[in-house]
Amino acid sequence: MCGIVGYIGTKKAYPILISGLSRLEYRGYDSAGISTIENDGLSLMKDKGRVKNLSNLDGIDNLEGTIGIAHTRWATHGKPSKENSHPHQDNSKTFSVVHNGIIENYNELRKFLENNGYTFYSQTDTEVIPNLIHYHFSKDDKNDNLKFLRAVKNACLELKGSFAIEVISILYPDNMIVVRQDSPLVIGTCEDEKYLSSDIPAILSYTRDFYLLNDLEFVVLTRNSAKFYDENLNEIKKETQTIEWNASAAEKDGFDDFMLKEIYEQPTAIRETIGAKINLDSKCEFDELGFTKEYLSSINKIYIVACGTAMHAGLSGKNAIEKLCKIPCEVDIASEFRYRDPIIDEKTLCIFISQSGETADTIAALKLSKEKGAKTLAISNVIGSSITREADYSIYTHAGPEIAVASTKAYTSQVVLINILAIYFAEILENSDMESLTKLKQDILDLPKKIEESLDCSDEIKKFAKQIYQEKDVFFLGRGIDETVAREGSLKLKEISYIHSESYAAGELKHGPIALIENGITVISILTNKDLVKKSVSNIQEVITRGAKTLVVTNQEIDRNMFDTVITIPETNCFISPILSIIPLQLLSYYISKEKGLDVDKPRNLAKSVTVE
Ligand code: G6P
Repeated sequence: MCGIVGYIGTKKAYPILISGLSRLEYRGYDSAGISTIENDGLSLMKDKGRVKNLSNLDGIDNLEGTIGIAHTRWATHGKPSKENSHPHQDNSKTFSVVHNGIIENYNELRKFLENNGYTFYSQTDTEVIPNLIHYHFSKDDKNDNLKFLRAVKNACLELKGSFAIEVISILYPDNMIVVRQDSPLVIGTCEDEKYLSSDIPAILSYTRDFYLLNDLEFVVLTRNSAKFYDENLNEIKKETQTIEWNASAAEKDGFDDFMLKEIYEQPTAIRETIGAKINLDSKCEFDELGFTKEYLSSINKIYIVACGTAMHAGLSGKNAIEKLCKIPCEVDIASEFRYRDPIIDEKTLCIFISQSGETADTIAALKLSKEKGAKTLAISNVIGSSITREADYSIYTHAGPEIAVASTKAYTSQVVLINILAIYFAEILENSDMESLTKLKQDILDLPKKIEESLDCSDEIKKFAKQIYQEKDVFFLGRGIDETVAREGSLKLKEISYIHSESYAAGELKHGPIALIENGITVISILTNKDLVKKSVSNIQEVITRGAKTLVVTNQEIDRNMFDTVITIPETNCFISPILSIIPLQLLSYYISKEKGLDVDKPRNLAKSVTVE
């Protein structure tokens, strides 16, 4: 939710800020703005609409400042409008601020500031921040070199909620102050220049060396230094981390859209995620975990908690964990889990999956589990992201940066990683048949090649997309693990094509949804489990009888003449079949969205990283 960028260096700031914002547009795109330090004061250029509109704003070409902050918004408080766009300034225009997150006590703070003579011009929660900084600044009698920092710190300690904030001031033309709490912010560093961003890929073309901030660490930046302070303003030491991602991974590389590129990157993403963890002659390795048989035998329940697509990856991982490790596993939506007083104790292992590692509900659920004494394990795609810093243990998918809002390669990488984790547990517990574990390992190693084969269905899928892109409702059916894929396929379709879709366990059809099946309606089914194929086929037969148009994704022998379109995918172990069966469904959503002329990578109302509740 919202993206922020900052620059302090020797070049003109505004082109760097706009370029950074355009890479962060997946985080929000209803308004954008920048503020730079100019000779005659702080510039402020902002408006509702896309980042590209910024370049047309009057006077933007005249900006000379080499320090600036910028923001692309996903509205929470107040509709998209110029007034509500960031940056925001205090009444005296001494401070400019951009903010990502939500200030929960902003009403209270706003009243306090109004009583102290401040006026508000927007409906945002953010506008309290520059005014509160000004309030503390003007009340501070000391004129030492920490005065600016003290004002920011005193203001931030009054904020409740989540924030990543960048502040510049006309009184300190060579400084920028930044801080975060529960919202992402990274600092890229090179000689004479500092680049700030909500995520790493947006600034990866400038540097690979990053400072990763913990909550409430205050940073004072100059062109060639970064000083870090704790909330008592004691200076702290921080090392840079080098990020291995390739900068071109954050470009489209000739594909029309990031989503299509990311779909085609899946063989590589899976290969990288498997890495050296699987070896047919020895046990799976997770250096980061080092779990013992004693510990794993003491666990009586595993929770997998996540949101959106990551939760669907969790659902498909449940199977492998229960069957291979014989530990009961529950999968929950983070926003539900955190408020339902789940039964957890020191014998529970809670696994949190998040591509970004910054999803507010997932982080809150993790904190709750820790409070209740559970061990916590994070699965993320972003090194150093918030959930990985909160969790007792972290392991990573290596899908590379995922830019499109609709998740594809992160999902398949998550599914493979949970399966490897389940094998790792099972090998330590020694309660599974070793031969079938080795067979599953081989099937995992074969996945990249089989994903490539699955991608061959692209033309057939494109044809089917042309037939159904104007539909209003689509149904997805599956049984067992295929039902989890039906959910993910349905979510993909909703997200980027805006077609209403529902997914059902095929056996539930008769208990209600079949009333909605009428002539011409599209029903998409996934059939990869040979034990359930007959049952699922008879469910599809029931919708065919009622006039449905059918698409079947399968790796089983079926009578192809029964269905309108059959997409064949390679056979594999049932636990990991979602990695292959989701591919035609990802492509289908993509081509329907293209057929409708929609913005595939930035669907309306959605954000890639939901850092607010
Ligand atoms: C948003 C995105 C989804 C994503 C979900 C969880 O809703 O639009 O694509 O699956 O957040 O994100 P996470 O980063 O925690 O995996």
